[in-house]
Amino acid sequence: MRYVEVCGAKVSTIGLGTWQFYAPEWGYGRSYANEVARPLVQRALDLGITLIDTAEIYGLGRSERILGEALGDRRDEAFIATKITPVLPLASIVEQRARASLKRLRSDRIDLYQLHWPNPLVSDGPAMTGMRRLLDAGVVKHAGVSNYGLARWQSAELALGAPVLSNQVRFNLVDRRPLVDLVPFARSEGRLVIAYSPLAQGLLGGRYDADNLPSGAIRRASPIFQPESLRRAEPLIDALREIAKSHQCTPAQVALAWVVRHSNVVAIPGASSVEQLESNAASAELELSDTEEGQLSTAAERFEPVGGAAVVQGLASSAVEAVRSRLSR
Ligand SMILES: NC(=O)c1ccc[n+]([C@@H]2O[C@H](COP(=O)([O-])OP(=O)(O)OC[C@H]3O[C@@H](n4cnc5c(N)ncnc54)[C@H](OP(=O)(O)O)[C@@H]3O)[C@@H](O)[C@H]2O)c1
Repeated sequence: MRYVEVCGAKVSTIGLGTWQFYAPEWGYGRSYANEVARPLVQRALDLGITLIDTAEIYGLGRSERILGEALGDRRDEAFIATKITPVLPLASIVEQRARASLKRLRSDRIDLYQLHWPNPLVSDGPAMTGMRRLLDAGVVKHAGVSNYGLARWQSAELALGAPVLSNQVRFNLVDRRPLVDLVPFARSEGRLVIAYSPLAQGLLGGRYDADNLPSGAIRRASPIFQPESLRRAEPLIDALREIAKSHQCTPAQVALAWVVRHSNVVAIPGASSVEQLESNAASAELELSDTEEGQLSTAAERFEPVGGAAVVQGLASSAVEAVRSRLSR
């Protein structure tokens, strides 16, 4: 495993995302929480993965609870990143919600406490006052944000009066927008971009095509998993496969290596099995050449998924199909 050190925090370049730990929307069923989540966490620690990401909103607290249980007496080996849902981000509420997360996590500290997204109606001043108190009390080690643009990340720092360690954003070969300003900012100022959906929710693993769609509502509703998008993604997946072949690895590993090849960037892939986690951890060691980076960027630039209107249309026609087939039975 490789590690990145910024602002006194040391985290593994490949982490583990735990939205899947209790999420019917991923379609993994109840057995995932009982049978997969614990071995995933234990194996992650064995492999040197320290960064484990969760949020109070995942399974309405269940992901945090499952993570706390799964860590057991190995809590100190992990760098726990959780998130507050900033619906009413007042200082006292931030403090109270952090303490509720701590209970679920069975811990006395949160290594990274992130505002899950920017509240469009309330500035970050009050939330950062709460964050400051949590930092001063030693309950939170680092403050972070998620889904923030650069200007708001910087203004959150002003409100906190200290570095906001990280910004957790979608960053993968399909969505490369963080390269415009967030990644350069993290690099020049010694901050961290935490890449979520680094595998584009599994698309870049190359397992799916128009005849083999993924499970669960979350991906069925996503523009990139519509059959037409999957057809359009074929050249990108082929590019991943070709590079993977020359490194004797998998397309998913190449996709992850592309993300963490950028300095001050770490990735938090979710996993549906221990085998996937092991493969993801190994991608930290994979080094892509500039030529391979160029090939991937060219293929990625040419991929344009279908737009939102097509998704709504697609979902509506599948719903009509489902009703029709029920009526005709
Ligand atoms: N801050 C935010 O707003 C935000 C938003 C989204 C996610 N997140 C965080 O980021 C984490 C990761 O993002 P994500 O779950 O959306 O997407 P992701 O990590 O890109 O995709 C995860 C999925 O990809 C597949 N996969 C994983 N490893 C693979 C491998 N080696 N080979 C092939 N397929 C593989 C698995 O699905 P299948 O096996 O079923 O295909 C897995 O569930 C989440 O768990 C969560 O902690 C944060």
